[in-house]
Amino acid sequence: MTRKTHWERIHTAKEPQDLTWYQEAPTVTLEMLESAGATPQSPLIDVGGGAARLVDHLVANGYENVTVLDISSVALDQSRKRLGSASETVQWIVADVLEADLPQAYEVWHDRAVFHFLTDPDERRRYASKLYGALTLGGHAIITTFAEDGPEKCSGLPCARYSPKALHAELGAGRFRLVDSARETHVTPKGQEQRFQYSMLQKVPC
Ligand SMILES: C[S@@+](CC[C@H](N)C(=O)[O-])C[C@H]1O[C@@H](n2cnc3c(N)ncnc32)[C@H](O)[C@@H]1O
Repeated sequence: MTRKTHWERIHTAKEPQDLTWYQEAPTVTLEMLESAGATPQSPLIDVGGGAARLVDHLVANGYENVTVLDISSVALDQSRKRLGSASETVQWIVADVLEADLPQAYEVWHDRAVFHFLTDPDERRRYASKLYGALTLGGHAIITTFAEDGPEKCSGLPCARYSPKALHAELGAGRFRLVDSARETHVTPKGQEQRFQYSMLQKVPC
């Protein structure tokens, strides 16, 4: 099964609020955005944003240049529908992040629970290059993965688990500065605890 088919099936089979990663309020992400100095004018991309609620919070906070990219058109349609007319202020891109032709540079790259699915080293290298190319100099990447003591699988796929230091090394210690990190115990809709790791990196010249 292709990656796209897998994710279209996942998003078709369940309502967004029944998926294990569902989060009503992305509190840690919003705090990190503030500490990164992001403003409503900052171009921001949510990579693998799916049907997540981050975009709702950004639009409500007046963010004017938000892009949500996901491999699943079903997931993006769910978010569009939920937002109604406010969805017209958002750019929606259906693509695999590894293949995507991104139309602009971003001050903020957000990824919650996408990079950790890349278990192939070559794909991780491609992701790191895509990220570096898409961020403005001094721009921030907020990347959330399973923590070192987090799950080994999600939605039937194996996942890699990271400490902030390991994620920094993986994405390029000479290309990014590790500026912040936080752990979170996420509780799934069925009440199971999952440990997540947030890492914030800043692009530096290389
Ligand atoms: C675990 S979900 C997380 C969704 C969202 N970030 C959140 O926190 O609720 C992973 C998301 O990444 C998308 N995805 C997986 N691999 C992708 C890829 N290579 N490129 C773009 N999107 C991808 C899936 O469709 C899904 O929406």
